[in-house]
Amino acid sequence: MPALIEDIRAAREAALADIGAAATLDALVTVDSEVLGRRGSLGRLKTQLGSLASLDERREAGRELNDATAAVTDAVAAKRGELAGNARAAQVEDERLDLTEFLGKPRRGRAHIVTQAWERLEDVFVGMGFQVAEGPEVETDWYNFEALNMGATHPARSDFDTLFVDHRGAPAGTTVLRTHTSPVQIRAMQAGQPPIYIIAPGRVFRRDTPDATHMPVFHQLEGLVIDRDISLADLAGTIEAFTIAFFGEGFTSRLRPSYFPFTEPSGEFDIRTPSGQWLELGGCGMVHPNVLRDGGVDPEEWSGFAFGFGIDRMAKERHEVGDLREMFTGDIRFSEQF
Ligand code: DAH
Repeated sequence: MPALIEDIRAAREAALADIGAAATLDALVTVDSEVLGRRGSLGRLKTQLGSLASLDERREAGRELNDATAAVTDAVAAKRGELAGNARAAQVEDERLDLTEFLGKPRRGRAHIVTQAWERLEDVFVGMGFQVAEGPEVETDWYNFEALNMGATHPARSDFDTLFVDHRGAPAGTTVLRTHTSPVQIRAMQAGQPPIYIIAPGRVFRRDTPDATHMPVFHQLEGLVIDRDISLADLAGTIEAFTIAFFGEGFTSRLRPSYFPFTEPSGEFDIRTPSGQWLELGGCGMVHPNVLRDGGVDPEEWSGFAFGFGIDRMAKERHEVGDLREMFTGDIRFSEQF
C-alpha cells in the first residue's frame, strides 16, 4: 500500500480522536481547521496526490482522501450538535431562577393577636359542633335593629352609637355599619332550616372615640343555637363547656340577669380565673320569639339561645395589653412580641 494512503488513514484516525476529545465548541473549531483547512493534515495530503506515479494509485488515494474528509466532516457536525446542546443546557441551568430559594434567613410574619384569638375561638366552637357563619359589615337598619326586636323608637337603639352610610340612594338612616354581629342571627335563620348551631365572628363599628378600652372598629363573636326543646340550661352548659375548652381547666363561668331586646330572659356571662377573679365577658339569653319570627322560625316549634362577646377584649386580657389602641397601630414590633 502506498505510503500516502497510510498517511491518509493515520490522519483520519488522529482527526477522529481529536474530535472525540474536543470539550468545547472552540476546541472543535480548532480541530476542524487543523484537519480540513488548506494547511490542515488532510489538506496537505491532498497536495501530495499529484506525486503518485500511476493513475490507479492516484484514484485509490483520492477515494481514500474523500472518504476521510467525509468521515471527519460528519464527525465534526455530530460533535458540534452535541456540544451546542450541552452549551444550551448549561446556559439554561445557569440562568435558572429558583423562586423557592431564600437568600439569607426568611422573615416570617405573625398573625395579629386578634386574628389569633379569632382563629382559636373558631377552633373551639367548631370542635363543639358549631359552623362558622358570616354577614355583611354594611347592614340595613332592619337586620341590625328592627329584626332584633328594636323598632324605630326602641330606646335600646341609643345604646349603640351607630354609624350611618349613604348607600345607593336608600333613604337616609336605613343603611348602617353593623353595630354588632347579632344581625347574622337573622341571616342564619333565613339561610337554612333549624337545627342551627352557628358562630359568627366579625368586625363591628360604633361611633366611639378611641381610648384605652374602646375602638370605633372592633370584633365580636356571635353564637346562635336553634333546636327543639332548647332551654336556659343548654345555654349555661354551653357557656361553661366553652369556658373550660378555651380558657382551660380551673376556669368557670356564671350568668347574671340582664336585659337585651333580642333575648328573653337575658343575661351577662362572666368567667372566673383560677385565682378567683371575675371577668365580664358578654351578653346572652334565650332568643326572643319576635326574633325567631323575623328569621322565619316558628317559636311554637323551635327555641334557642344566643350569645355575643368582644374578641379584642379577650386578646387584650390574655396578652395583658394595657391600652387597646396599642393593638391597632399596625406597628410590626407590636405583633412580633406574640
Ligand atoms: N349584640 C350585643 C352587643 O353588641 C351582645 C349580645 C347580647 C349578643 C346578648 C347576643 C345576646 O347574642 O344574646 O352588645
